[in-house]
Amino acid sequence: MARDDKLNGSNGTAANGVAVNGSGAKAPQAANGTANGASQDDYGNQEYIVRARGVTRMYDVGGQPVHALRGIDLDIRRGEYISIMGPSGSGKSTLFNMIGGLDKPTEGTVFIDEVDMAQLDAFELAWLRCRKIGYIFQTFNLIPVMTALENITLPMIFAGASTDEQLERGRELLEQVGIGHRMNNKPSQLSGGQQQRVAIARSLANQPAIILADEPTGNLDQKTGKEIIELLKRLNRESGVTIITATHDDKMLDVSDRIVWVSDGKIEKVKRREEVDITLGTLEGSVH
Ligand SMILES: Nc1ncnc2c1ncn2[C@@H]1O[C@H](COP(=O)(O)OP(=O)(O)O)[C@@H](O)[C@H]1O
Ligand SMILES: [Mg+2]
Repeated sequence: MARDDKLNGSNGTAANGVAVNGSGAKAPQAANGTANGASQDDYGNQEYIVRARGVTRMYDVGGQPVHALRGIDLDIRRGEYISIMGPSGSGKSTLFNMIGGLDKPTEGTVFIDEVDMAQLDAFELAWLRCRKIGYIFQTFNLIPVMTALENITLPMIFAGASTDEQLERGRELLEQVGIGHRMNNKPSQLSGGQQQRVAIARSLANQPAIILADEPTGNLDQKTGKEIIELLKRLNRESGVTIITATHDDKMLDVSDRIVWVSDGKIEKVKRREEVDITLGTLEGSVH
């Protein structure tokens, strides 16, 4: 199908998002092979699941320009776990909206799987958001009148899965995130940590290539936050899904392959996990 070809990019491997029933394509690989690599900088472009080029975003607030992003260049490898750090207002959520196709850059380009998102029509963009990207938010954003299972199967309905597939995969996902026993509970009957687990399962509903998690531990206590981070890391390792988190949480640094610091809409520095190892303790005081 032409539309699928276009959306699947140039490398021919991107069936990742397509399978909704677990019987088709698998999530992208590279969890072990490409995630860490200093020695692997010589990959071709197809190894990059996200490429941002010169991304700027300007808001007009009562006639005054607000420069939320001032020219972001960032390449993210398939299977990487990336943390984006920066103070409140530095542009993390705006960057997420650009990568996630929820908003458009004022200037610049974001490629997902080598597909230029600016070239997609509304239908194609919706397809990409539904199949290729899973979203996790600080406030969970579950639908209150739906059970955990219904929240998870909703994106599968949009993707056209059969009822049997939805239920089977929905139950599997809830088991995978450790709350199979709460599938018939509504969000109000679940703790914050449990709600975030539902949200994580929902983000995986259509076997995305990328999970975007915007401050996923921001509303959780320390211990629960740690469990959520460990869960995300496990999913990253097991399925090879690329994880991009915005965070203030130092624990996130520990599980990340790379850490990107943003400040005032620009990338300040990018470091691999091993490069920040020694200074990890001291970073604690410097982030807000
Ligand atoms: N919809 C908007 N309208 C106007 N300004 C915005 C909007 N969204 C974000 N901003 C501004 O853009 C900057 C970056 O915001 P944001 O991306 O939310 O930062 P962060 O997620 O790092 O806290 C801030 O100055 C914020 O006030
Ligand atoms: Mg934010």
